[in-house]
Amino acid sequence: MIEGEGSIQSMFTRVASRYDLLNNLMSLGAHKRWRQAAVNMLRPRPGDLVVDVATGTGDMALLLAGRVGPEGGVVGVDFCPEMLAIARRKASSHPQGHICSFIEGNALGLDLPDDYADCVTIAFGLRNLTDIARGLGEMVRILKPGGKLLSLELSVPQPSWLQSYLMRGIPWLGRRFSSHPPAYEYLASSIFNHPPPEEIARLGKEAGLAAVDCHQLYGGLAVIHLGRKGS
Ligand SMILES: C[S@@+](CC[C@H](N)C(=O)[O-])C[C@H]1O[C@@H](n2cnc3c(N)ncnc32)[C@H](O)[C@@H]1O
Repeated sequence: MIEGEGSIQSMFTRVASRYDLLNNLMSLGAHKRWRQAAVNMLRPRPGDLVVDVATGTGDMALLLAGRVGPEGGVVGVDFCPEMLAIARRKASSHPQGHICSFIEGNALGLDLPDDYADCVTIAFGLRNLTDIARGLGEMVRILKPGGKLLSLELSVPQPSWLQSYLMRGIPWLGRRFSSHPPAYEYLASSIFNHPPPEEIARLGKEAGLAAVDCHQLYGGLAVIHLGRKGS
């Protein structure tokens, strides 16, 4: 584990039990539409093997399972056992849950082979990596040549009222509803400290993606990067 990771991990341990509730409250349910839009852009095929990095409570993995079907597979990786426990619980009562397996692991050193997956996804995870370039390098490494990498992430939106919401509204909701309010101060500041979409696209290309498209949703509040590994 590299410097800073221990505190990120313990923060997610502390927010795990209320993570889904806070996600729904803070985005007014929009995170579900963003995930859906991301999976529609990724267009995984039935039979594909997808790795969802920083899978958290497994929402993206379960959505992907519905697309790849029983001939495919979804592997959700996260370094926080408490988040994974919730993902496994959700999968056990989800119609496509059996397609998913959830494993403990670090995005900066994935314990998966080279050229392994048809698609790799990371939703609201890139911002939390202590070394984004290294994380992207790992995700590209485990992709098959020609495979697709998708990141869905929060970013600084253009409308100033949305910026005020991030700076003041999110920490307020955290104080009101989370058992660990500092996590929501961190959430707001991590969005402003995250590199802008053009820089993420550049890092993706440096990591070995042949092309990276960028799509902005909700005035730039959510950003989808989609790239393909060179063959
Ligand atoms: C904001 S949550 C996103 C969870 C989920 N992908 C979603 O869409 O809701 C970020 C997740 O990244 C995980 N994470 C952060 N850094 C990580 C790392 N280096 N390796 C593995 N997981 C990491 C955290 O444990 C947490 O579950």
